[in-house]
Amino acid sequence: MSHIHRLRASLPKRFFSNFYCQSTKFLHSSPLVTNNMSSTAGLVIPCKAAVAWEAGKPLVMERVEVAPPQAMEVRIKVKYTSLCHTDLFFWEAKTQTPLFPRIFGHEAAGIVESVGEGVTDLQVGDHVLPVFTGECGECAHCKSEESNMCELLRINTERGVMLSDGKSRFSINGTPINHFLGTSTFSEYTVLHSGCLAKLNPKAPLDKVCVLSCGISTGLGATLNVAKPKKGSSVAIFGLGAVGLAAAEGARISGASRIIGIDLNPNRFEEAKKFGVTEFVNPKDYDRPVQEVIADMTDGGVDRSVECTGNINAMISAFECVHDGWGVAVLVGVPSKEAVFMTKPINVLNERTLKGTFFGNYKPRTDLPSVVEMYMNKKLELDKFITHRIPFSDINKAFDLMVKGEGLRCIISMED
Ligand SMILES: NC(=O)c1ccc[n+]([C@@H]2O[C@H](COP(=O)([O-])OP(=O)(O)OC[C@H]3O[C@@H](n4cnc5c(N)ncnc54)[C@H](O)[C@@H]3O)[C@@H](O)[C@H]2O)c1
Ligand SMILES: [Zn+2]
Ligand SMILES: [Zn+2]
Repeated sequence: MSHIHRLRASLPKRFFSNFYCQSTKFLHSSPLVTNNMSSTAGLVIPCKAAVAWEAGKPLVMERVEVAPPQAMEVRIKVKYTSLCHTDLFFWEAKTQTPLFPRIFGHEAAGIVESVGEGVTDLQVGDHVLPVFTGECGECAHCKSEESNMCELLRINTERGVMLSDGKSRFSINGTPINHFLGTSTFSEYTVLHSGCLAKLNPKAPLDKVCVLSCGISTGLGATLNVAKPKKGSSVAIFGLGAVGLAAAEGARISGASRIIGIDLNPNRFEEAKKFGVTEFVNPKDYDRPVQEVIADMTDGGVDRSVECTGNINAMISAFECVHDGWGVAVLVGVPSKEAVFMTKPINVLNERTLKGTFFGNYKPRTDLPSVVEMYMNKKLELDKFITHRIPFSDINKAFDLMVKGEGLRCIISMED
């Protein structure tokens, strides 16, 4: 693969505009829509995408070709995307199977550009949120009230192709580029299975609700749907990034009276005050396990805990800090492949419960529109999660911020 054609994300904007004038004129305007058909339907769309060629190396702005959607697939124009720790984790690929070149991105909002054969519930122009775990509507999980782990479309971090034909819809000069989580939103256009798109109230501002497509719904649902704290209870939140603070928001909405935030990064504590976190613990400040510190603070343990770090020690602490008899711990962080959860079985016998969740147990197509309505009805604030905004060409800055632990969500605008 020649490096000559690669454009560093850091190149000046002027460079891009010259490049685009030569290559893809129609991208300067949205595709024309007539009779529910866009002018680009059925065509390959050349567009900008931020490609990860190697683990941990800056993404490179490339001109990729995006093939039309096949049966049960939808092609969307991504309007806004943001970075979640799960992107960073698989991009670093330190403890996960590396799969490159790849287009990352799964937290986003966009507009349907065209639909493939058999798609009846979405049409051109619909506003949508992509979700990394889908809902086919037909399988035992989709039919069960208790699960959102769709048999067909559940999260698969190692697949880099579309389900229908085992091929990628992205290519550069004929070389296929891997998808990520079935979403790959770090591209102006992307193709998804229709079951991985939640249709939205068109009035919802896409530059805000895009954070509901992963992190905020995940944290909120982990508390509201899985931990289910009672009014007046105590809740410990491990990891005060956007996911953890959304879990704290869920605890506040549930009427928890004590919300204890635990993080290794003391800069997180100031921000967390805006989310109703009442007490802070930095495990680095103590020479004994943090679960013991929390047990002392709470007369034997918290009623609920939600782990949002991905760190195995934090997961164990989150379980061991809940009260015996009734405590429930919920794991949300994505662990490294080799991580093993170790605790004494007596901790479980003593009537503590350990749970885990993807996407806060929300069924993406069925439940996400109502989470969007919580925002529209002002029951849920999203602005406080959005600490940075950058143009697509600066996408590597979003990675820098997350690596440094600065800010919560950084909204990347595809059109700036
Ligand atoms: N289960 C799901 O469906 C799902 C969905 C989205 C994100 N995630 C995962 O949730 C986690 C949080 O995502 P985010 O985007 O908020 O990340 P983030 O990087 O913004 O926040 C993580 C926070 O955890 C803190 N932390 C790390 N190790 C810790 C430890 N041992 N003890 C206490 N605090 C610690 C960090 O300092 C940071 O503030 C990640 O693991 C991500 O992969 C899971
Ligand atoms: Zn995510
Ligand atoms: Zn299903």
